[in-house]
Amino acid sequence: MTSHNESNDEVRLTAEQAAQIDRAAAGEGPLTEEEEIYKENILDHYRHPHNAGSMSDATFSHRELNPLCGDTIELFVKVDSKKRVNDVKFTGKGCAISQASISLLSDSIKGKTIEEIKNLKREDVIGLLGIPIGIVRMKCALLSLRTLQKGIDYYEARKTAPK
Ligand code: FES
Repeated sequence: MTSHNESNDEVRLTAEQAAQIDRAAAGEGPLTEEEEIYKENILDHYRHPHNAGSMSDATFSHRELNPLCGDTIELFVKVDSKKRVNDVKFTGKGCAISQASISLLSDSIKGKTIEEIKNLKREDVIGLLGIPIGIVRMKCALLSLRTLQKGIDYYEARKTAPK
């Protein structure tokens, strides 16, 4: 068991650690002290997702798939006349990391403009999760951002398309 210290903050999340988070999500263990810290934020959002649900009057919505596992996120975004997000909802099916990621991201975009959201980078999403993400789990972590970015792409394409 490793102790939590400055250098361990830089430890990458290995496939095994990610699997342990998934086992924790399924109520299985055991976890190391460090993994306990990792899991808390993620599992809280996984079990009690913020902004869960759908929206009938969304400005745009988009459903995206992780082709590696078939898990999905559908995102609904409502923007005001200044193109500022004033409501967001999502539905989804997937692992703890993917669902925590969209829960965190949906909170973070409220009040932001579409232009501000377009500047979000993968590092921003990893930062929201609060743990370094290994290559194996990167697609899980970034499914949220891909769903949001593609939704914006389609929304803007629709707005600029000739009538
Ligand atoms: Fe499917 Fe993570 S295993 S999104």
